[in-house]
Amino acid sequence: MLKKRILSGMRPTGKLHLGHLFGVLDNWKKLQDEYECFFMAADWHSLMSEYEDPKNLRANILDNIADWLACGISPEKSHIFIQSNIKEHLELYIILSIITPLGWLERCPTYKEQLREITNRNLSTYGFLGYPVLQAADILLYKADCVPVGEDQLPHLELTREIARRFSSLYKKELFPEPKALLISGRAKVLGTDGRKMSKSYDNYILISDEPEAIERKVRSMFTDPLRIKRTDPGHPDKCNVYAYYDVFSPEKKPEIDQLCRLAKIGCTDCKKELSLSMVKYLEPIRDKKDEFLKNKKTLLDIIHQGELKAREAAAYTISEVKSLLGIG
Ligand code: TRP
Ligand code: SF4
Repeated sequence: MLKKRILSGMRPTGKLHLGHLFGVLDNWKKLQDEYECFFMAADWHSLMSEYEDPKNLRANILDNIADWLACGISPEKSHIFIQSNIKEHLELYIILSIITPLGWLERCPTYKEQLREITNRNLSTYGFLGYPVLQAADILLYKADCVPVGEDQLPHLELTREIARRFSSLYKKELFPEPKALLISGRAKVLGTDGRKMSKSYDNYILISDEPEAIERKVRSMFTDPLRIKRTDPGHPDKCNVYAYYDVFSPEKKPEIDQLCRLAKIGCTDCKKELSLSMVKYLEPIRDKKDEFLKNKKTLLDIIHQGELKAREAAAYTISEVKSLLGIG
């Protein structure tokens, strides 16, 4: 049977952290066997919010894709590419822009929220309003059956479905299947070092490729059980962010740490040192693999080129269907 198709994307706005690894990448990795996957660096989408200072964009794209590969996204299984290398995204984007009512975009909750919350950049632009239309074009261009996304992206997926329906009803042809969301679990496996959601803007992140020294320093700064003030106070591991990290990085040590903490037989400093060691052990092979890709750019660019060929083939086919239906080109 033909595999169902997935399209997903990540904006290359900076280096990837553990939130990306355990939220998005582990999820993509699992989906690769069951679906035909297209994974792209959404550089147009980055530019829509970072247009005032795009100088790191190119480096971020290659850095992120090297992380994807190092974390197990496989070029044998998935098509990895850069959005702006496939011109058809923009062709479908303009067509969908033409048929999308303004009100749908102005009412979009993510748009309103970002305009309100992002105050250090000017996002009152024509392009930024169209962000979800480009995302719809990304998805519909590949006729994706499913789109793995976090909860924050659900309004964009709903809009994509509405745009697909509008296209079908206007042109009396169901060219685009309505894509389904594959919701990535809302509960984060690891939080930031301050106990909030891990995020670049909170400065509470640990990078996938952080050096051992940086990992140790950041773990040292982590919040622990707030009731454990003195070394002799018994701890509550279930209320401790450090303990939650053990779950991911060395689950086998949890029973022992739990006991030692509750009986105040281990101090937080030692507990964190132990955790750092496990994290370094877990992340080091990933960092090494990434470094190889970044040192040997040719392999990296080849992989992206191969993905691009597959993406272009699918995209060109859809665009030829759309153009012939609309009588253009
Ligand atoms: N908007 C998505 C985000 O910020 C990135 C993205 C762009 C995307 N195009 C996409 C996600 C298509 C899924 C499908 O995370
Ligand atoms: Fe948390 Fe470890 Fe300190 Fe217990 S000993 S409170 S688990 S850091």
